[in-house]
Amino acid sequence: MFQTDLLKGRTILITGGGTGLGRSMALRFADLGANLFLVARREEPLKETADAIRVKGARAAYASADIRDFAAVENAIAAAEKEFGGVDTLVNNAAGNFIARTEKLSPNAFNAVVGIVLQGTFHCTLALARKWIAAKQPGNVLNIVTTYAAANCGSGFVVPSACAKAGVLAMTRSLAVEWARYRIRLNAIAPGPFPTEGAWSRLMPARELEERAKNHHPMKRFGRHDELANLAAYLLSSQAEYVNGECVVIDGGLWLCGAGEFNDFADLPDAMWATIEQSRTR
Ligand code: COA
Repeated sequence: MFQTDLLKGRTILITGGGTGLGRSMALRFADLGANLFLVARREEPLKETADAIRVKGARAAYASADIRDFAAVENAIAAAEKEFGGVDTLVNNAAGNFIARTEKLSPNAFNAVVGIVLQGTFHCTLALARKWIAAKQPGNVLNIVTTYAAANCGSGFVVPSACAKAGVLAMTRSLAVEWARYRIRLNAIAPGPFPTEGAWSRLMPARELEERAKNHHPMKRFGRHDELANLAAYLLSSQAEYVNGECVVIDGGLWLCGAGEFNDFADLPDAMWATIEQSRTR
């Protein structure tokens, strides 16, 4: 689909790049010639993904950091600069989410998700954009949001995520205008259901829920990682130079079936909620 040098010469920092969709995007960008710098909390998956990228003949390095901590973000970027001389592209992919009845959440649960998704995205975007603006060099940012942010409908049962992702979308569109004069381009992707260990353990913690979601889907299937990674590669590439402030939905048409991806959890019986709460992953 793409020329193999589509992203040659680019250095891409991906948050949450050791696992899930972040890992899949990193591997795809490596195929297309990019250098990758991966940032996440756990070192083991970061190392494993960096090794997998190197096996492909591309360059990769990583730093473990909690993006809720601005100083940790700045340190990670300094490590990326040391390794590659600079970073020109940012993918804000790291996220936190879980299915829960909102009245059962603690304030800290809300803070944990908003801290990772909204503040973490702002921290990474701010730290890199300051450097790009000072150096008068262009920059490129891709934010991974959700369909319930893109459709402006929110969603029950994932309220911290809905609030945070709506904020990220507002940030994407606001900065796309404010920083266009610095040649910094910001776009978003709103994925529907793409199976990953992280999302599935938190959002589909029981087999019945997965079956229910698949049956409810107009295409009767979930997304494939390569489908999302190819869209991300296009949006980051120079072929999309005039796409700015856009949010592209990739969900097989699911959001058109009804607002709020998880709103139909309203008819879930208490017994199922008990199963979800018991299977809770920390
Ligand atoms: N339901 C309700 N509350 C939950 C919860 C759940 N499933 N999981 C965590 N919490 C609460 C905790 O009880 C805690 O609140 P408390 O201190 O008042 O008890 C708060 O959230 C923070 O939890 P903790 O595990 O200490 O936070 P963390 O910063 O280590 O983890 C999360 C952040 C909770 C978002 C965790 O799920 C995570 O690390 N997620 C990253 C990966 C991910 O979510 N991927 C899927 C993306 S779709």
